[in-house]
Amino acid sequence: MDIIAVEIPTAVQIRAWHSVVTAVQACDNPEEPPQTLEQTTGRLTTPPPNSRLLLWIAAVDGVTVGVAYLRLPAERDGGRPAEIDVLVHPAHRRRGIGARLLRRAAEAVRAHGRPAVVAQAIAETPAVPFLESQGFRCVLVLTGLLLRVDDVDPGWLADTLAAGPPGYELVRWRGAVPDGLADAFADAKLAMDDLPADETVTERMSWDAGRLGEMADMVAKRGDDLYTVAAVRGPVIAGFTEIVVPANSPERAAQYDTAVVPGHRGKRIGIWVKAAMLEWLLAERPEVREIETDNADDNVHMLAVNEELGFRRQREYRDYQAEAADLPGPPER
Ligand SMILES: CC(C)(COP(=O)(O)OP(=O)(O)OC[C@H]1O[C@@H](n2cnc3c(N)ncnc32)[C@H](O)[C@@H]1OP(=O)(O)O)[C@@H](O)C(=O)NCCC(=O)NCCS
Repeated sequence: MDIIAVEIPTAVQIRAWHSVVTAVQACDNPEEPPQTLEQTTGRLTTPPPNSRLLLWIAAVDGVTVGVAYLRLPAERDGGRPAEIDVLVHPAHRRRGIGARLLRRAAEAVRAHGRPAVVAQAIAETPAVPFLESQGFRCVLVLTGLLLRVDDVDPGWLADTLAAGPPGYELVRWRGAVPDGLADAFADAKLAMDDLPADETVTERMSWDAGRLGEMADMVAKRGDDLYTVAAVRGPVIAGFTEIVVPANSPERAAQYDTAVVPGHRGKRIGIWVKAAMLEWLLAERPEVREIETDNADDNVHMLAVNEELGFRRQREYRDYQAEAADLPGPPER
C-alpha cells in the first residue's frame, strides 16, 4: 500500500476520493443524502478561510482505498487545533490503512507545530474504537436534529412571529452582512463563545468584519446561499441565526450559527429569529424540504428551542481530540 501526499488534486484523484466518500457514507451514514461530486470537489479545492489543507490518498495497486484530510488553521490561529478526517473504503477496513493515514497526518500536525487535532465520529460506528485506539478522547457529544418543513404548523409560526419581544426588530440579509451591520454582527458572533464549553483546546474564533466577509465568500465560492436573520435593538444585534442552502442539494438546508447575546436572553429571541428564518425560507426557497442541525447535549436551551420548532433527534455524534504528543508516531517507511 502506498500513501500519496496530494498537493493540488487532479480530476482523477478527486473522482477516486469521491468514490471512497460515497462508499463510506453508504456504509456508515446511509440516511444522509449522498455527498455530490461537486461538494467533494469544493471541499478538496476550497479550504475554509484562514486554513490550509493537506491531503493524502492510500492506494493499493493503483486503486484508492482510503483518504485523509487535514485542515491546519493559519499561523495567526496557531493555538487552534487542526481537524482530521480519515476515510477507508468499507471493503478495505481492519488492515491498518486508517492507522497509517492517521500516522502520516500526525507527522504533519507535529511538523507544523500544532498543539492538538480534533475529529468527529458518528456514534456506534467503527470511527469510535478507531479514534480511541489512536490517542483521541471524546470531548463533546452532539445530537443531530432534522426538521421537515412540512411538519411546521403555520399557525404556530404566525403566533411565534407575532410574539416578538417589544423594542426589537427583525433584519435579514442574503450573503455577506451589509456594511452598516458588520461590526454589530461581529460582536454578536462573539456570543457564540459562551456556548456550553467542551474541553477542546481553544476553538474560540475572534470575529471581525474581515473574517465575516471571508466566511460569506467561502459559502458563495461553493455556490451555496447563506441566509441570516437578526434581532436588532438600536445599534446592537441581540441575536441571529444563519442557514446555508447548498447549491447541489437545496432540499436539505444546514443550520449554521445561532446565538443570543447575554443580556438579551430569556426573551425568546432565539426562537423568534429561527421562526422568521423558517418563514423566509418557506417563501423564498420552496425546494428546501429539511433543515439539519446539531446541538451539544449540554446545550439544553438550544435543544429546547429546536424541539419546539419541530426538529427531531436523529443521530449522535462525538467530537474527539488528541494532543499532538498523544498521536501515534511517524509512519513506518
Ligand atoms: C474509522 C476508519 C477510518 C478506520 O479505518 P481502518 O483502516 O479500518 O482502521 P485500522 O485497520 O487502521 O484500525 C486501527 C485500529 O482501530 C480500531 N478499530 C478500527 N475499526 C474497528 C472496529 N470496527 N471495531 C473495533 N475496533 C476498530 C482497532 O483497534 C484497530 O486496530 P486492530 O485492527 O489491530 O485491532 C474506517 O472505519 C472509516 O472509514 N470509517 C468512516 C469514516 C470515519 O468516521 N472516520 C473517522 C473520523 S477521523
